[in-house]
Amino acid sequence: MTNARAAVFASGTGSNFRAIMETDNLLCDVVLLVCDKPGAAVMEKAEKFGVPTFIVNPKDYGSKANYERVLLEKLHETDVTWIFLAGYMRIVGPTLLGEFPARIINIHPSLLPDFPGLDAIGQAYEANVGSTGVTVHYIDDGIDTGPIIAQEEVPVNLDDTKEQLTERIQQVEHKLYPQVIQELVKENR
Ligand code: GAR
Repeated sequence: MTNARAAVFASGTGSNFRAIMETDNLLCDVVLLVCDKPGAAVMEKAEKFGVPTFIVNPKDYGSKANYERVLLEKLHETDVTWIFLAGYMRIVGPTLLGEFPARIINIHPSLLPDFPGLDAIGQAYEANVGSTGVTVHYIDDGIDTGPIIAQEEVPVNLDDTKEQLTERIQQVEHKLYPQVIQELVKENR
């Protein structure tokens, strides 16, 4: 059976992108990296893995709909059927959502619905919670509100620095996201 084809969308460091790329038997070929931040470190990682990149600065397109139409054209041209958001710090609009129903997945560093939005790890850290975690979910038109697919709890230790907590959360992300991708792709073949 042939592998599914996917695009990863990322804006930053790309540690989740790397974790996805380093997974054996993902059942899915990442054939495109979409990046909205010129100069983001994820670009070098894509080059290292030989994944073609599509870098688009939304500011060049006047509106979200125009920007997403450019992305859509590229996604269709590349023949992808899945989109995995991995640190893509932008809200997905109706143009993309409408073309990929239940096919856009996101990872978020908290136990949603707690701490949606930006700096979820910092939010949890400041709130002094005893535990936080990681959520993988479908994207809908809200901010981190789509149906949850998987979650894993991560304890917050009393003496944790924010950096230590971030590292522990990211270790969980790097395991959980590829696992969920594998399962989703398998179920939807
Ligand atoms: C990850 O922790 C991811 O969960 C988070 O951005 C980080 C990207 O790291 N995403 C969000 O907060 C989305 N709301 P990475 O670039 O090293 O993969």
